Amino acid sequence: MHLHLRDGEQMRAVLSDTARRFARAIVMPNLNPPVITTELALAYNGRISRALAANTKMQFKPLMTLYLTDSTETSEIMKAKASGVIHGVKFYPARSTTYSYAGVTDIAKCFAVLEAMEQQSMPLLVHGEVNDTEVDVFDKEKIFIDRVLIPITQRFPDLRVIFEHITTKEAVEFVKGASENIGATITAHHLLFNRNVMFQGGIHPHYYCLPVLKREVHHLALIEAAISGNPKFFLGTDSAPHSKNTKESDCGCAGIYTSHAAIELYAEIFEQAGALGKLEEFASFFGADFYRLPRNNDSITLIKERWDVPMELEFAGKALVPLRAGESMSWKILD
Ligand code: DOR
Ligand code: ZN
Repeated sequence: MHLHLRDGEQMRAVLSDTARRFARAIVMPNLNPPVITTELALAYNGRISRALAANTKMQFKPLMTLYLTDSTETSEIMKAKASGVIHGVKFYPARSTTYSYAGVTDIAKCFAVLEAMEQQSMPLLVHGEVNDTEVDVFDKEKIFIDRVLIPITQRFPDLRVIFEHITTKEAVEFVKGASENIGATITAHHLLFNRNVMFQGGIHPHYYCLPVLKREVHHLALIEAAISGNPKFFLGTDSAPHSKNTKESDCGCAGIYTSHAAIELYAEIFEQAGALGKLEEFASFFGADFYRLPRNNDSITLIKERWDVPMELEFAGKALVPLRAGESMSWKILD
């Protein structure tokens, strides 16, 4: 329910990893240039659909999103809703993450749009970090809750909001205590690691993502939320491919690629937490319910079988380093 598919040759390189595991995904609009109109979203949807059609075995439905800017108009929300293809509007605070340069500088500029979304029942998907450079990078999510999220939810109580890729116990607590209109996605990587993994014996850029990994107390709070059976918390991988050279650079990109093993990673996490029985609802029910989509009828079967993750994957003529590169996985999808 939260995925970066990129575009063009990069998209064609990564699409099958997700389509093999998931019947649909909420596709992020942070392309360059960003997907700011319904027309652009429909065109992007067409490119994904054509790439899928080129591989007839893949059954996958991309659920499109719009990228919110300071100048998004309310009429765009009506168009998006009428399209039937757009399932949410993504709010990136300007300069908070990858290709967020055209994001929102001040959410007050979007209040008319949020009101239209509330009326149209169009969910707001939130990258929950303040873009204030004075704020400590590990506090950006916590401060965002107080400065931006609470005011939005108070002003627009009927707006459905997905607090994306939450990383802190404060976010867990906020979501738990908020109305039923507030949900959250949790990534596999935030359930697997705390921030130490980025710095063990040197700097490890392939563990760098945004919001950045936090300390252990937050990691534990996320696991507890994911296995709690609370329908407000559901799967969103935020798998975000960047080529190896752009990650291993003097100003490395944020993003962790997990699509090659996404559901298998979650299975491992839930198993270790003694909660495998809670995986299906977290992965397949709660997100669909929140988005008011019918639950899928098809199933996949996971078996306990070891397989090795390659060191690198092909990524439009470049290399992509997947999570667990050169290591092994304990769960496997039965073909
Ligand atoms: O780590 C991230 N990568 N976080 C984001 O918010 C964006 C994403 C990307 O698009 O690369
Ligand atoms: Zn994302």
